[in-house]
Amino acid sequence: MTGSSYLRIRSVRKSYKAFTALHDIDLDVEQGAFVALLGPSGCGKSTLLQIMAGLMQPDHGEIHLAGANITDLPPWKRNIGLVFQNYALFPHLSIRQNVRFGLDMLGMSGREAEARVDESLDMVGLDPSLSRRPSELSGGQQQRVAIARAIAIRPRLLLLDEPLSNLDAVLRHKVRLELRQLHDRTGITTIMVTHDQSEALATADRIAVMESGRILQYETPETLYRSPATSFIAGFVGNPPANLLPLSANGADSWTLANGDVWRPIAALSPAANGVTSGTACLMALRPEMLTLRASGDGGLPARISAIEFIGGDRLVHVETGGSRLTVRMPTGDAVAGPQVLLYPPAETPLLFDANSGRRLDPNTH
Ligand SMILES: Nc1ncnc2c1ncn2[C@@H]1O[C@H](COP(=O)(O)OP(=O)(O)OP(=O)(O)O)[C@@H](O)[C@H]1O
Ligand SMILES: [Mg+2]
Repeated sequence: MTGSSYLRIRSVRKSYKAFTALHDIDLDVEQGAFVALLGPSGCGKSTLLQIMAGLMQPDHGEIHLAGANITDLPPWKRNIGLVFQNYALFPHLSIRQNVRFGLDMLGMSGREAEARVDESLDMVGLDPSLSRRPSELSGGQQQRVAIARAIAIRPRLLLLDEPLSNLDAVLRHKVRLELRQLHDRTGITTIMVTHDQSEALATADRIAVMESGRILQYETPETLYRSPATSFIAGFVGNPPANLLPLSANGADSWTLANGDVWRPIAALSPAANGVTSGTACLMALRPEMLTLRASGDGGLPARISAIEFIGGDRLVHVETGGSRLTVRMPTGDAVAGPQVLLYPPAETPLLFDANSGRRLDPNTH
């Protein structure tokens, strides 16, 4: 990316004793963007966020914000708003005092500070006249207070570490939408840590997918979904995520499946059409919502239905094929003849990965 990015992270490395939590992280965030750091537990999301906030020092590398090197700046001089999973409100202070806290630290006084508290509480949808203490609020309300406290200082950067994970499913959905709307209204550059892919897809402009201390792909939600760079990402993103079917190229036209069965697909899905040489062990990512089941035809994968789950408008049909288990998502109204069926992946743009490295193999790589 260009040198004009608002937040610029270069070669940031961090180890806890012998364990490397972050390997040379580079990340560019444009001003006003909403970025999600997405990855499984332990991949280094919080470590990276704390380094941005200045709560932790990197062993190596630099952080630049708005053109200035802030690597050695202490947290209170960075003008960054922080929200944690556990709210971290001061229990002995009232709601207003909690929101005022950062303003007091900045030396803002009297009427100006009070007006800023009103405005911040109003922005997160809380009644500014609220005189209660944090313990008298619900989880969702406490998290709103924490967000109001973070934005009251009009931060240059808003960092959110799993801000929704202590909320129940309904509230999580509601507050994530509010967070995005708050971002759109204030224009504050926002970085949110989450291990929930649907949360990242729904809120962020760009998503940095992390695994084992590395950023694997940094893209828009659509590109991550359509063109995942690795099998790990394909198997992590989507609802449910993509099925990963192990197969190895058997000559130019067919594949050998996990149980030794041979599958001769339509030409577009053949090894040759995708530049895969015979003998190469692959994973084919199959999106549940893009698979179809038919009673007969050419080029389908023989499959057996093992279970059907009703999830509302759709059904999840679990099938076994070639020694692997796959999930198909289809509208509840669609008929399923079974138990023996033929499974058809979409004819266009197969997603093929090297089984060993996890890297994309097919020529459609983004
Ligand atoms: N103080 C520490 N001492 C030693 N190891 C640590 C310390 N803090 C974190 N780690 C390790 O560093 C790795 C990254 O931790 P981090 O908290 O950044 O992960 P995370 O992606 O935020 O995970 P989670 O989703 O569970 O919050 C983990 O493997 C963790 O065990
Ligand atoms: Mg964490």
